[in-house]
Amino acid sequence: MSTTTAPAPGADAVPTGADPLDLEAVDALEFWVGNALQAAHFYRTAWGFDIVAYAGPETGVRDRASYVLQQGELRLVVTASTREGSEIARHVARHGDGARDISLRVADAEAAFREAISRGAVPVHAPSEDSDGEGVVRRATIQAYGETVHTFVERGDYRGIYAPGYEARETVVDPLPSVGLLAFDHSVANVELNRMNFWVEFYEKVLGFHMIQGFTDDDISTEYSALMSKVVSDGVGRIKFPINEPAPGKRRSQVDEYLDFYSGPGLQHIAINTDDIIASVTALEARGVEFMHVPGTYYEDLRKRFSDVHLDVEALEHHGILADRDDEGYLLQIFSHMNQDRPTVFFELIERHGSRGFGNGNFKALFVALEAEQERRGNL
Ligand code: FE2
Repeated sequence: MSTTTAPAPGADAVPTGADPLDLEAVDALEFWVGNALQAAHFYRTAWGFDIVAYAGPETGVRDRASYVLQQGELRLVVTASTREGSEIARHVARHGDGARDISLRVADAEAAFREAISRGAVPVHAPSEDSDGEGVVRRATIQAYGETVHTFVERGDYRGIYAPGYEARETVVDPLPSVGLLAFDHSVANVELNRMNFWVEFYEKVLGFHMIQGFTDDDISTEYSALMSKVVSDGVGRIKFPINEPAPGKRRSQVDEYLDFYSGPGLQHIAINTDDIIASVTALEARGVEFMHVPGTYYEDLRKRFSDVHLDVEALEHHGILADRDDEGYLLQIFSHMNQDRPTVFFELIERHGSRGFGNGNFKALFVALEAEQERRGNL
């Protein structure tokens, strides 16, 4: 019944080098939220980001307030509507706080947009440019899954903090230990049943990505629920988007729960790199961030799987950090509780040691933990 292939993790994750749109990196992840002031405070105080820029009525932007948050190379933007009935307000009413735009930095926004459209993308915003005393930012936007979009951002001619309309914010001296998050690793889409292959093809055809991994529902299932997942990557391997769809199970899967509460497809989680996950999790816990915990039996098994690798298994177990390995090395990862009231978006931390996988070996243990949370919410 499974139709996906399941190559060894990382086995075919070799970059192709093909990059028809000249994608450089993920530029920012923009969340549309109900209250940007409070969301920015949460990502600063709990997650250790700096608030580096602001746009709103005080800077001449009348209909919204946006805060730009930075940690390492990772940039988040949280935006709220200041008016009833706007596109942002409607998005938030439908989806709750969620990711609107996974923007992609390019050398030439107009060229990337034209190439994407010629490859079948649906346009959202035609190429436009904004300028101020610091230079010019050029942007153009295409549709992705659900109401999520990709904006191509060209900032080679811009010296300012983020974009015209934004003013720099002075960094607040953070009295708490640094969290140490470094960069975007991957972001995961949840799409509807039987739509995973459609979106894999979208990334292949439109953005020139290629598939690097697939898991079947045999790999990722518990007694009750399952999912199927494929991972697409850009040609140089900097941008990786796993795409999940629910698979039939006895009860409702975590992807079904997401689709129900998000009212459709959307971004499920962002994985962020750290080079010391134990230190990062320790710092985040001190700030009040909570993480998923797997059953203790997981660590008995982990000791066997990693008998030849020096790992502080006691510390991993104390914090609930997971480990997985493949031919190329290993990785450590942990998943946070939800970032908002709806069971939709959360974060992952990941510390990689050679492995370019996504922790498939942990999915089953993780599902058991996720289902325990789902059960508590009465959604299983
Ligand atoms: Fe992940």
